[in-house]
Amino acid sequence: MSTGIELISLTKKFPDLTAVDNINLKIRKGHLFGFLGPNGAGKSTTINMLSTVLKPTSGTANILGYDLIHDSQKIKSLIGVCPQEIVMYDYLTARENIELIARLHKIPKSEYKEHIDELLGKMKLLDRANSLVKGFSGGMKRRINVLMAVIHNPEIIFFDEPTAGLDPQSRRVVWDFIKDFEKDNKTIILTTHNMEEADDLSDNIAIIDHGKIIAEGSPQQLKGEHGKGDIIEFRVFNHSLEEREKIVSFLNGNSDILWAKSLGKERIVFNAYDGLRNISHFYELLDQQFKIKMQDLVIRQNTLEDVFIDLTGRNLRD
Ligand SMILES: Nc1ncnc2c1ncn2[C@@H]1O[C@H](COP(=O)(O)OP(=O)(O)O)[C@@H](O)[C@H]1O
Ligand SMILES: [Mg+2]
Repeated sequence: MSTGIELISLTKKFPDLTAVDNINLKIRKGHLFGFLGPNGAGKSTTINMLSTVLKPTSGTANILGYDLIHDSQKIKSLIGVCPQEIVMYDYLTARENIELIARLHKIPKSEYKEHIDELLGKMKLLDRANSLVKGFSGGMKRRINVLMAVIHNPEIIFFDEPTAGLDPQSRRVVWDFIKDFEKDNKTIILTTHNMEEADDLSDNIAIIDHGKIIAEGSPQQLKGEHGKGDIIEFRVFNHSLEEREKIVSFLNGNSDILWAKSLGKERIVFNAYDGLRNISHFYELLDQQFKIKMQDLVIRQNTLEDVFIDLTGRNLRD
């Protein structure tokens, strides 16, 4: 494989905590790589170091053959960054905000003029090109922000939570836009705490938690390795934590069950081989053993959320 980015013992310590803890990782050129993890996992800190915004405490990265610490100027010219916080000038129009970035990159006007229209069209914002962004919705601003990150046609693009807080329609537009970039053989790094986004878009994923990578692979691989069965979730009402723990440990002792956990105040979730087919068996088993009826029963195929639960015992959103 051709490596686009290699993180080498990359570490960032803040006075109170280690936000990124000795990460080693190879990211393939021309692919879309996702960092999936809950809030505070260290995703933005990682992206900020790779995009030369933040200095690592130790370690480094190699980006298309250039060293993060020693060749940061060169790296700046190869990358585009769409930061988590929206950055733009309210009193410029959509077009002017993008033009400003094009000029900072010293792109001749003849080159960027039509390109901006094409990009605005892809983001379904061409009809608002000449409006001040001041009146734009969050979703529209986010879409402009994405365009500002890519106007200079970078080889590597970092998208930090590109769809956080977006309405479903804007999210779809941004996803399609990002997918299009991959066709151009660009290397794309995306962070998200949205498991559908990570699953839909990424060729490979690193699941990050407390600054460490806890699993890595394609979405398919991860879902296969962690939780091969179906996920069964149900509620039990009026049971103490202790009673629920008893049920969980009983389920964990069943050879058809890969894992069982209690979630929130009244839910229990478990992963069982062939769970869909055997659901009546589990229903009866719990009725016999604990006199409980599974309520609000949900059965579904394994997702990346389940992979995360399997690895950490927590929800991505907890
Ligand atoms: N400038 C900073 N100073 C101190 N702590 C920080 C700073 N930036 C981030 N952190 C902390 O580092 C951890 C990782 O943050 P971040 O990388 O933003 O996580 P994520 O993007 O995954 O939500 C968090 O605990 C956060 O509070
Ligand atoms: Mg972040």
